[in-house]
Amino acid sequence: MCGIIGYIGHRDAWPIVTRGLKKMEYRGYDSAGIAIVNDVGFNLYKKAGKVSSLEQFTDGKDKSGKIAIGHTRWATHGEPSDCNSHPHSSNDKRLHIIHNGIIENYAVLKETLLTRGHQFDSDTDTEVLIHLIEEIQNMEQTDLLEAVRLALNEVIGAYAIVILDRGNPDQLIAARKGSPLVIGIGADEHFIASDVTPIVEYVKNVIYLNDNEIALIKTNQLSIKQRNNVVQTPLVHELELKLEELEKGGFDDFMLKEIFEQPRSLIDCMRGRIYPKEGKVELGGIKHYADKLTQIDRIIIVACGTSWHAGLVGEYLIEKFAQVSVEVEYASEFRYRHPIIRKDDLLIAISQSGETADTIAAIEIAKNKGATIFGICNVVGASIPRSTDAGVYTHAGPEIGVASTKAFTTQVAILTLIAFYIAQQKGILAPAELTVLLNELNSIPSKIQRVLAENEHIKDIAFEIKDAKSCLYLGRGSGFPVALEGALKLKEISYIHAEGYPAAEMKHGPIALIDEEMPVIFIATKNSSYEKVISNIREVKARKGKIIAIVTEGDIHVKEIADYYIEIPDTDEAFMPLIATVPLQLLAYHMATIRGCNVDQPRNLAKSVTVE
Ligand code: M6R
Repeated sequence: MCGIIGYIGHRDAWPIVTRGLKKMEYRGYDSAGIAIVNDVGFNLYKKAGKVSSLEQFTDGKDKSGKIAIGHTRWATHGEPSDCNSHPHSSNDKRLHIIHNGIIENYAVLKETLLTRGHQFDSDTDTEVLIHLIEEIQNMEQTDLLEAVRLALNEVIGAYAIVILDRGNPDQLIAARKGSPLVIGIGADEHFIASDVTPIVEYVKNVIYLNDNEIALIKTNQLSIKQRNNVVQTPLVHELELKLEELEKGGFDDFMLKEIFEQPRSLIDCMRGRIYPKEGKVELGGIKHYADKLTQIDRIIIVACGTSWHAGLVGEYLIEKFAQVSVEVEYASEFRYRHPIIRKDDLLIAISQSGETADTIAAIEIAKNKGATIFGICNVVGASIPRSTDAGVYTHAGPEIGVASTKAFTTQVAILTLIAFYIAQQKGILAPAELTVLLNELNSIPSKIQRVLAENEHIKDIAFEIKDAKSCLYLGRGSGFPVALEGALKLKEISYIHAEGYPAAEMKHGPIALIDEEMPVIFIATKNSSYEKVISNIREVKARKGKIIAIVTEGDIHVKEIADYYIEIPDTDEAFMPLIATVPLQLLAYHMATIRGCNVDQPRNLAKSVTVE
């Protein structure tokens, strides 16, 4: 959504904040702003566009100061513009706020404030909040911390906020509910940010603020209390993240780097969890539920976007190996239905960021009904892993590109391990059978490496179909979610319309779309539905569709009919999605870059969707 950063300490704040905002642009990039205080005064700079536009705008202006707050925005209330950019200011221009989230009751609050003489400069919900804080402080004649606490008690919605008082420039106040906020602890300095990416180069120790907590932050003092005034003892975490993980490492884009990182991220994801020789899977994060898992007879998977596609692959795997019935739900739909959730159900929430608002809401619903909740997340310490009963981290490393790539493959790997783990606990899979499966799973990273070696070939195909107006992705079985994921990758970064469909459903509608202009991408690997997919390919061929097929190495039949093909190494049918997704990621990547699109920051998108 939005990225926020604050600094208070002995260093020049401007470079820390601008650099930090650039690192968080994946969270939002339609406008940026910084408020900074120095000994002689205060400056507030805001600009529509990226952080680089703000830098150009402030060139030659006074940017000195040791305390500052900054924001990079993904618009929710009010179009991207200079005046809607954060920081927003109180009526008397003394208080300044940066905010990630949504104040849902802002309209009601604004009406009251208008009657009390407040004037607003923007269309945002955030400006209403800082006016409310100012109003309460004036009315109650209290300090800022108490005014913030009282104001937040009146607010409905989600927020991570940092407030700077230009009249009291030795402190910042931060608070969170529903949106992430982390505080970095240095020597006589503090950093506050939406996530650790902008602060990892300065500090090793961080505190993740919990929901409903408010922090008073000075250079050498940090105190935290809950909104109900109960003082909290902060839990300090040591960061394990390495700075290089946040750099492009010689690649043109984060997305390409992350696609190429998949063999490594899968190895990291499986390390210490699979024991092929012993035919055993160990998942420390859920081991306390080992017995309970043998009794579970229904699993509900909730997720959004790419994570939902991973869930669909998980459905095939869990039903096949663990013999448990699985339902996969869009979190955004699930939360507003009247879902039947029983106490003995298991809900698995999948989320790369661990901050997706709809997924968090779905968890709350299932929690209230007494279900057991597991999380599959990548970002350590995010809201979802902190609100679930147990879970498994994907350990994919930071994913900066807005389009999910290594998050997907590692989520699928974890779902595979959960399927095996349940099967093992139930005695469905004997160690000897698991040995065979785990040996094959262990070989997937090197097989993906072989697909990555086809990068130039895939680029050539991308060049041939780059002008397509629309593309169809077809697959059967677990090839269907792979098709959905391939289509999502293409549309989100190249802006070409694309649809994923079960290959057999094509005849029930989409076949009408097919003509010589329409590239149709088939997942046509050797598996139980291979022959049937070939029939579907022939049907498209008969209507002059352009066929691009993902085939198994050594295939003869599909190659004969396809216009273009990409070979992937043979594997057990269960692991095909892990490999077959990779050429589709590369195809989308090249089509987008050939068309001049910014793949890391596609238009209108943000990395984590922390509002519904
Ligand atoms: O962080 P999450 O996995 O919860 O995010 C869910 C979706 O917003 C996300 O998967 C989105 O669809 C991808 N970035 C698309 O590539």
